[in-house]
Amino acid sequence: MIDKVEIAGIGSSVPEKVVTNFDLEKVVDTSDVWIKKRTGISSRHVVTSERSIDLAAAAALKAIDHAGIDGSDIGLIIGCTITSEQITPGMSSFVAKQVGVDCAMMDISAGCTGFVTGLITASSMMDTLNIDYAVVIAGEALTKIANWSDRSTCVLFGDGAGAVVLKKGDEQKMHYPVLTGTRDYDNVLICKKEDRKTPFGGVDNPPLEYIKMDGREVFTYAVGAVEDVLRRMQKSCGDKPYTKVIAHQANEKILDYVVRSIGMDKDQFFINISEYGNTSSATIPIAMCDALEQGWLQKGDRVALVGFGSGLSCGGIVIDWTL
Ligand code: UT7
Repeated sequence: MIDKVEIAGIGSSVPEKVVTNFDLEKVVDTSDVWIKKRTGISSRHVVTSERSIDLAAAAALKAIDHAGIDGSDIGLIIGCTITSEQITPGMSSFVAKQVGVDCAMMDISAGCTGFVTGLITASSMMDTLNIDYAVVIAGEALTKIANWSDRSTCVLFGDGAGAVVLKKGDEQKMHYPVLTGTRDYDNVLICKKEDRKTPFGGVDNPPLEYIKMDGREVFTYAVGAVEDVLRRMQKSCGDKPYTKVIAHQANEKILDYVVRSIGMDKDQFFINISEYGNTSSATIPIAMCDALEQGWLQKGDRVALVGFGSGLSCGGIVIDWTL
């Protein structure tokens, strides 16, 4: 059961360096025309010296400032990431240090469904743990695990972070969580950790491991899974339907299919992939920030969030927007 929780603050942070499709034409055999036509992406922010954990901490600090709370109010930090530079302690611990707070901390690895999984986890735990405020952050440096000689994947990714502060309130503002998935039988979206030599086994000089993706298969999964999750939430909403959708920004073409199949208008979907590319778990909170800044998201809106990606996983939640 989701507790009576609302979003009280939001923030995002992206690296300064912007790489355009034209820049990528000098890196791999690709073209601005191909990338735009097939994905909707024009440019992306990429890390140079920054780490995903730095971006995450910057986003969290902005969200905390936006919520107008003190670090000491926070009882739980959840970091959603597949690219944390630290195996342990996790991204959430690094952020706690930067914010200067002693609280519960945990990381979630659920690929591009990470942020939605983090939101559902945090909001379900707040009552149980008697916590008034929680922070959920998604921070990624996907360009660090992209294969820069594979044109079919490297052009898709960007880096960034987004965070929200959750506050225990008097009314139910987050509804109808769905988390679902299907086994990735054929490893259509995978990034292995490098093997290592130990006294007992492993391999010498293991090859560097990068993201590998069968784009067509993932596309097909995504279109079906997102439609299914949106329909399930639509049914749960009954006579108070959501009127806006913020979905994971992996490819604008996926969203075009979903818009048609679900029977909504495209302008009911917030789309900012053109500027950021696919930042995995961070696309949704970055999009929420932009949507708020641009006035697309307004107090009183009922908005559905949907994430999808490796696993293969998919999940959603409906939010009554309060900011
Ligand atoms: O966040 C995780 C979830 N990920 C996703 O949701 C990604 C889902 N999949 C996709 O977005 C799309 O499948 C891609 C954008 C990855 C690929 O688009 P596609 O329309 O499925 O292209 P394709 O892989 O079928 O390739 C079509 C052609 C091929 O050439 P041939 O064999 O027809 O001669 C590719 O070699 O396009 C070629 N190609 C490229 N050409 C120029 C592939 N990548 C590129 C490129 N530039 N970057």
